[in-house]
Amino acid sequence: MKSKVTVIGAGNVGATTALMLSQTGIADVVLFDIAEGIPQGKALDIMQATPLSGLSVSCQGTNSYDLTAGSDIIVITAGFPRKPGMSRDDLLHANAQVIREVVTGTASLSPEGIYIVVTNPMDVMTLIAWEVCGFDYRRVLGMGGVLDSARFRTFISMELGVSPADVDGMVLGGHGDLMVPLPSFTTVNGIPLARLLTQNRTTTLIERTRNGGAEIVSLLKSGSAYYAPAASTVQMVRAILLDEKRILPCAAYLTGEYGNQGVFVGVPVLLGRGGAEKIIELPLTPAETTAFASSVEAVRAMLDTIQR
Ligand code: APR
Repeated sequence: MKSKVTVIGAGNVGATTALMLSQTGIADVVLFDIAEGIPQGKALDIMQATPLSGLSVSCQGTNSYDLTAGSDIIVITAGFPRKPGMSRDDLLHANAQVIREVVTGTASLSPEGIYIVVTNPMDVMTLIAWEVCGFDYRRVLGMGGVLDSARFRTFISMELGVSPADVDGMVLGGHGDLMVPLPSFTTVNGIPLARLLTQNRTTTLIERTRNGGAEIVSLLKSGSAYYAPAASTVQMVRAILLDEKRILPCAAYLTGEYGNQGVFVGVPVLLGRGGAEKIIELPLTPAETTAFASSVEAVRAMLDTIQR
């Protein structure tokens, strides 16, 4: 039987995720939104692209949770995007309410499903999603690290004039201003980054990565990034559905790893059909350990402000 993926939120990130996912041909897609007509119209448009790609998948739009029943994966992109000058944290309260609503609407209909939360502030929203659905914590993940790492890899490839495909890198911690890029675990086709780039230039690229979302927000003037966020989400969906056992940085629930517990935050995760099958613990330097701890503290501070 074909896999089924529901995408909640038919805005920029959700619709782009539905399009990119449909184009992989690995799952039927249901696109849900509260806005009437929007998910139906966008899904029909996506569906009309499938014969051109020779694909045998469906994409359906809906305002009813019923159609989401039996999903293997539920991607949550519903919420409000950042506006210029607005931090991810400003979105906290409004989006927390959206997450509660959509998880309540979907969890009982897809009891075997796996959630991937994209809505910001993502690490906090992922914990709320987990609390509301009551699933095993391995079946709830947040998308942030794949995107932050993709941005870091992109900037390195642009700086060095090499193919982005040759750059591998890790960004851990919360998906916020205190994210933790790890140059010591970044390589260019196996060559350690430090052999190719000075410390100064690396620091500049790390800063640009931290600011990667805001740079796009300030260029667009209204709305935030969606092509790379959607592509990052699709990479996670694929790793899970195809049981690829890829190691990708994702927000996962910590039970003591990296000296933390009771919080979702970005760590290297082995992704397969079981969701977050394993967390990989990297030996961090003292400076990286301190940066990771500060990042987790920022996530905890946001959690503390939410009524739960
Ligand atoms: N249920 C379902 N859909 C909802 C709900 C809800 N309760 N509340 C809002 N939505 C829908 C909106 O109708 C809209 O179509 O969520 C969609 C959000 O789309 P955009 O405004 O285009 O936002 P987008 O750019 O897609 O970003 C969504 O992803 O990357 C993050 O920071 C970003 O948190 C933001 C989220």
